[in-house]
Formats: sequence, C-alpha cells, structure tokens
Amino acid sequence: MKETGLRNRVVIVTGAAAGIGRTTALHFAQEGARIAAWDVNDAAGDSLVKELESAGGQAMFCRVNVADSASVESGVKAVLDRWQRLDVLINNAGILRDAQLVKLKDGAVVATMSDEMFDAVINVNLKGVFHCTRAVVPHMIAAGGGVILCASSVVGLYGNFGQTNYVATKAGVIGMTRTWARELGKYNIRVNAIAPGFIATEMVRAMPEKVLQSMVAHTPLGRMGQPEDIANAYVWLASDAASFVTGTVLSVDGGVVVGT
Ligand code: NAI
Repeated sequence: MKETGLRNRVVIVTGAAAGIGRTTALHFAQEGARIAAWDVNDAAGDSLVKELESAGGQAMFCRVNVADSASVESGVKAVLDRWQRLDVLINNAGILRDAQLVKLKDGAVVATMSDEMFDAVINVNLKGVFHCTRAVVPHMIAAGGGVILCASSVVGLYGNFGQTNYVATKAGVIGMTRTWARELGKYNIRVNAIAPGFIATEMVRAMPEKVLQSMVAHTPLGRMGQPEDIANAYVWLASDAASFVTGTVLSVDGGVVVGT
C-alpha cells in the first residue's frame, strides 16, 4: 500500500475530545502520526490519549481553549517540548449558540440573538482558528513546511436559519483559508478547508429532528455523514497525495450543496 507520508508527523487536532475531532485523531494515528489532542474537556481528552497509546501510538493531551491566545501558545510549547516539531494543524474545535436574529410572536419581538451568543461563537470558531494558525506558522516556516486544515461548513457557503453567528464564522474560515494559502504557499505550507454537510455528532444531535430530516431529504446521497467521512478527507488533504492542493474548500456533504 502507498504511504501517506504521515508516519511520525506531529498532528495537532483542536476539539479532539469528541465528534469529528476524535475520529480524526484516531484516523491520523492509524497512519502512524503522533497526535497532540487539544480540547477543554480533560476527561474525554485523557481517555482519547489512553486509547491511542494502548493501540501503540504516540499521543498527548493538552488542555487548550482555542479562544484564549495564551492557552494556545502554551499548547504549542507543550507539543514542541515533547516532539520538537509540528507538521499538521487541524482547526476543528467549534461550538453552536443558535438563535434567530430577531424572533417575532404576534408581530412583537420576543427574542434576539444576544451579544454573548454572537461573541462566544466568534471567539471559538473564528478567533480560535486565527490564534492556533498564528501560533504554529512560525514553527512550520522554520521547519520548511506544513499543513493547516480548517473546519468550515456547508452553512458557511449558503447560510442557515438561526445561525447568524455560526455562519459568520464558517464563511470567515473560508476567507482566512484562502488568504493564508496565498501568504504561506511560498513557505511550502498548504492551507485548505473542509465544508462538512450534516455529520452525526453531539453537535448535530442537538438540532431539532424536523431540521435533520429535512437536511437528509435534500441530500442526494440520502443520509447524514459520519465523522469518518470527514476524517478521511482530512487525512487525504494532509497527505502527500494532496501535495498540490491549497486554498481549496472541499465539500464533504453527500451533495447537499448541489441539492436534490
Ligand atoms: P462536537 O461538539 O461533537 O465536538 C467539538 C469539540 O470541540 C468538543 O470536544 C469540545 O469540547 C471542543 N471544544 C469546544 N470549545 C472548545 C474550545 N474553546 N477550545 C478547544 N476545544 C473546544 O463537534 P463536531 O460536530 O465534531 O464538529 C467539529 C467541527 O466541525 C466544528 O468546527 C463544527 O463547526 C464543524 N462542523 C460540524 C458539522 C456537523 O454536522 N457535526 C457540520 C459542519 C461543520
């Protein structure tokens, strides 16, 4: 079988304790990569690392809140102290705080999206990606290259009801990805985003059943995605097989953007 070029690579996965991040960490470990799992959930992060180590891999957990630049810097330091290198950053951590911009009942405004809801999502999903990428890039440049992958979303491409804050971040991630691809290509750093469709994780299970059924009905492949679908795409984008791919937004969505 052809090697992916990921053996012994040091891969940072943010939001690695659950969902897509967790599955992505497991898939990279299967390719022989060393995993730095960053998350705010210590218990789940520790248990992931135990699982990776008991399968013979090398892994470490760092309690990193991506919204806090000092926390991110200390995470980078911990990775370099352990392995003296970092090769791949997967900006996966993300949260939702859904609400309509303005909600009316009988013609009267009964609720709005609050400043707190807007800022919380911006701080994790957008500033978090900025903090992590800014912190790793100097080390990638010094080492002669690297790969940065970012979690956008299908909703970053076409908007979504009740998700002003989240959609702003996922569209923003696409803009940053394209900007960094331009700025960093000359340092042999590739930067790409994935726009997942609706993937069966806790984040999505919290959505109303009616919304989920309607998404599946509009998906040509007729199902929700699984975390493995996204993990496989991250592995490919990070691998040598994608060595001429940068600045792209890969839809992994069962065709939902095209529609039925
Ligand atoms: P999830 O909610 O299952 O897991 C997210 C992980 O991020 C959790 O372990 C959580 O503790 C961690 N996290 C949250 N805030 C953090 C912070 N400030 N610092 C560090 N870690 C933090 O989410 P899921 O579904 O796995 O999503 C992963 C990424 O994929 C997110 O960026 C999400 O927006 C994106 N995405 C997910 C889709 C889906 O359908 N599940 C669709 C499109 C995009």
